[in-house]
Amino acid sequence: MSREYELKVDPSTLGSGASGSSRSTINRRQFLKYGFNTATGVLAASLGVLGFSAILLPPGGGTSGDLGVVFWAKGREDEAWYGAKHEQMMTRTDFVNEAAKSSTGTAGAAGIWNGVPVVVTYVDHVKNKDTPVFNGKARFQFMEGYDETGKRIGHFEDLSDADPRIFPSDNLVMIFGRCTHLCCIPGWQLVSNSYTDDSWTPGGGDEGGTKLFCICHSSRFDPTALEMNSNRNRSSGATFSYAGIRRAGGPAPVGLPLIPIQLNGDVIEGITDYIDWYTYCD
Ligand code: FES
Repeated sequence: MSREYELKVDPSTLGSGASGSSRSTINRRQFLKYGFNTATGVLAASLGVLGFSAILLPPGGGTSGDLGVVFWAKGREDEAWYGAKHEQMMTRTDFVNEAAKSSTGTAGAAGIWNGVPVVVTYVDHVKNKDTPVFNGKARFQFMEGYDETGKRIGHFEDLSDADPRIFPSDNLVMIFGRCTHLCCIPGWQLVSNSYTDDSWTPGGGDEGGTKLFCICHSSRFDPTALEMNSNRNRSSGATFSYAGIRRAGGPAPVGLPLIPIQLNGDVIEGITDYIDWYTYCD
């Protein structure tokens, strides 16, 4: 039986309702794969020639296929539902089929878009949005956002009204995959714990599952809670507002930015108009 490593969470960083779930375990194989490089994250380490600077490519990167997103399951080919699709283009149908197996109607997958790590999440929003809100009926929630000092920044729809492409379409969102704490790469069900199981609680809090989970220091992000937020350009120090998903708990100060998407037929593509939102890591 493989040895399991316990990930301890700093209690001061836990949000309300997390006290009974402050630890998670990964086995040695997972630790070596996912926990090794806390500074840059395991996906970045495995990207080879695809570095973060690739995002500085002009829109489209020069060829028509560059806006597409590919599944990234390196090292998890036998575990992730998309393991057999590693490096294949993501399609909406892939997520619809996987979400049909979920009690919450959600599905997520790690990917690479324009040289950077992303997580794509499907939420059965159209089906659930007009039904009473209660646990398990996942839908997107459009919320007020706050900066790391708690100051209100604005509402998600302030941004999506200005550019409707920011509003989630086709039940999908794509999220930039670098943690706002120390830039590790959060994942979808990389580990099994109460934050990653197939459950959902409304409100954008820390209760319930279907979270993106960063195994470096246990930050959690709710891909169904969409808000406006703010962060800082790592090089210039300039502050910028962005549309993103809510930080639910852990040491990350703010949520993760969205990468607006469009469908090309069934293929999921990212829109490159908001690269300033992804400048808080090296
Ligand atoms: S890098 Fe620390 S929680 Fe993600």
